[in-house]
Amino acid sequence: MADTKRQILVTNALPYANGPIHIGHMLGYIQADIWVRYQKMRGHDCHFVCADDAHGTPIMLKSQQLGITPEAMIAQMSDAHQADFAEFGVSFDHYHSTHSEENRELASLIYTRLRDNGHIQTRTIEQLFDPEREMFLPDRFVKGTCPDCGAEDQYGDNCDVCGATYGPTDLKNPVSAVSGATPVLRESEHYFFDLPAFGDMLKAWTRSGSLQDEMANKLNEWFEQGLQQWDISRDAPYFGFEIPDAPGKYFYVWLDAPIGYMSSFKAYCAKNGLNFDDYWQEDSKAEVYHFIGKDIIYFHSLFWPAMLKGAQFRQPTNVWAHGFITVNGTKMSKSKGTFIMARTYLDHLNPEYLRYYFAAKLTSRIDDLDLNLTDFAQRVNSDLVGKVVNIASRCAGFIAKKFDGKLSDTVAEPELLKQFTDAADSIAESFEKREFSRAMRDIMTLADRANEYIAIKEPWQLAKDETKQQEVQDVCSMGIHMFRALMIYLTPVVPELSKQAQEFLNDDFTWDSAKQVLTGHKISKFKALLQRVPMEKIEAMIEDSKEAMQAQQAPANPHMADDPISEEIEFNDFAKVDLRVAKIANAEHVEGADKLLKLTLDLGGETRQVFAGIKSAYNPEDLIGQHTVMVANLKPRKMRFGMSEGMVLAAGPGGKEIYIMNPHDGAEPGMRVS
Ligand code: 2FM
Ligand code: ZN
Repeated sequence: MADTKRQILVTNALPYANGPIHIGHMLGYIQADIWVRYQKMRGHDCHFVCADDAHGTPIMLKSQQLGITPEAMIAQMSDAHQADFAEFGVSFDHYHSTHSEENRELASLIYTRLRDNGHIQTRTIEQLFDPEREMFLPDRFVKGTCPDCGAEDQYGDNCDVCGATYGPTDLKNPVSAVSGATPVLRESEHYFFDLPAFGDMLKAWTRSGSLQDEMANKLNEWFEQGLQQWDISRDAPYFGFEIPDAPGKYFYVWLDAPIGYMSSFKAYCAKNGLNFDDYWQEDSKAEVYHFIGKDIIYFHSLFWPAMLKGAQFRQPTNVWAHGFITVNGTKMSKSKGTFIMARTYLDHLNPEYLRYYFAAKLTSRIDDLDLNLTDFAQRVNSDLVGKVVNIASRCAGFIAKKFDGKLSDTVAEPELLKQFTDAADSIAESFEKREFSRAMRDIMTLADRANEYIAIKEPWQLAKDETKQQEVQDVCSMGIHMFRALMIYLTPVVPELSKQAQEFLNDDFTWDSAKQVLTGHKISKFKALLQRVPMEKIEAMIEDSKEAMQAQQAPANPHMADDPISEEIEFNDFAKVDLRVAKIANAEHVEGADKLLKLTLDLGGETRQVFAGIKSAYNPEDLIGQHTVMVANLKPRKMRFGMSEGMVLAAGPGGKEIYIMNPHDGAEPGMRVS
């Protein structure tokens, strides 16, 4: 091990339990996972925990919409998240939920300490209230006309058109996005955390020099604007924890969300005999790092350290933010098929491709990262397949066939090999500093050198000459030694590929084993380690992402308000939609489509082919002969499987619960629906 053993706790932003994970989320999880795997390879005690962020109004409303309890919904979502993480190789040591006993206890403890230390105040405020649903409305659940520019249908916190920020009570003609009712103003007592009292401590932290530059700049801007009291309570109905001694008042989701880092770790400690206090007490020597997205810096760099300080816990060693991803140069888009769910990616492509691509582009800065899908394929093909794996595939066959799998007893080019082993320290430093892009560049420079060496030596020519067999073994062994060093360095990034390489080499990698050389060692038979990225799979993934939208199963962005009633339309707009009764003349599965059925619809003289996202709810044979309602004048759309010439009407949250419209007997194909 390079230095003394460190005790490290790493967390990742907790995903909301109201929607699946998309590839934008994966950037942060993969970044943290690479860092954690690197620390573990160095032999440090590094623990990696996460949890679902299970509380708040959107989660409460979504579960009501699905007709299930919030507990049932968050349990399902947690399973789905964990399956996605596991398949992407994100190696959490423990995965928990903020709706857990550990979190309830810690949230109560922290709140009680803050209160007893004089950091909580109460004050009555006025807020918009939905008189139909009898609930106070979060800002994103109120829509109306922007007070600055007059744009309609804007959220209660800021205007998408002119960028103005305001409060929901400033909106003109406000409407509840939950029920459509006109909200009324109502008073309620709220609990506030005294953030300004921690200004000096936060400023000292900002000046410590350990923060990312962009984060320190952001903090300085916020200090200039002046820190505000933070409202940490919400009124019932709310899915969360009731505040001790304040019946009917609940902790705001952002109060107990970061406490979820601690509670997940606490549950992990209990299972593994670790001492929680060693990591969280005020004078702890352990290191604690939070990996987060740039959108939640405020919560993690102001509220969170202040809350910890006020409750006599240690503060994080650092908070590391990353940027967002764009796909093909623009924001992920559902209509372009670039809003790609983690699951859709996994259905088509090897997760290690994405891990490598992200690593090749990630730095320690908070820059956005573009996933250009053509570049993605080229980069993975050229670097991982064309450079690294190619070294082994060019050399392994000769070693197996001619030398019974045994590597030479001596190293043919010690100087060259030394370049590979000496690189361990600088590559390690790049991993440590989260400069993964630099680490990948250095590894690929070495891979180029290895390939040049093999190209010059041409072992395939030497093999033809009976007198040069020793040279063949020496050159190919050199190739294998160089390949091995590169694979050791790539292990945190592509752990599955590394595992296969270890099987092939009959070796167990540690970081320090790069300094040893496997002279005279027997290796196994070489099997193809990695396929080139199949372009057609990328196209299929894009089509599936469009299909998911078509099937209306593309889940809401967890950062968005949850499926509110859409904006009002004029009668004339509605009258443009030509709804007709249609008889389902045929229904069949579509090869290669996960969600779609192909329907042949009889409109009374005319037939239409429609792809409908209802496969999860219907067997095709049960649909044949049924009447339904279709949009008959929808512009035909070219899909991967053919033209879709309309749309059938269906309702429901998804999965088994999708119900196509079934008109009463007597409705004939072609009849207009009015
Ligand atoms: O923004 C989000 O997706 C939040 N669920 C992140 C929470 S991170 C932590 F504080 F819990
Ligand atoms: Zn505006």
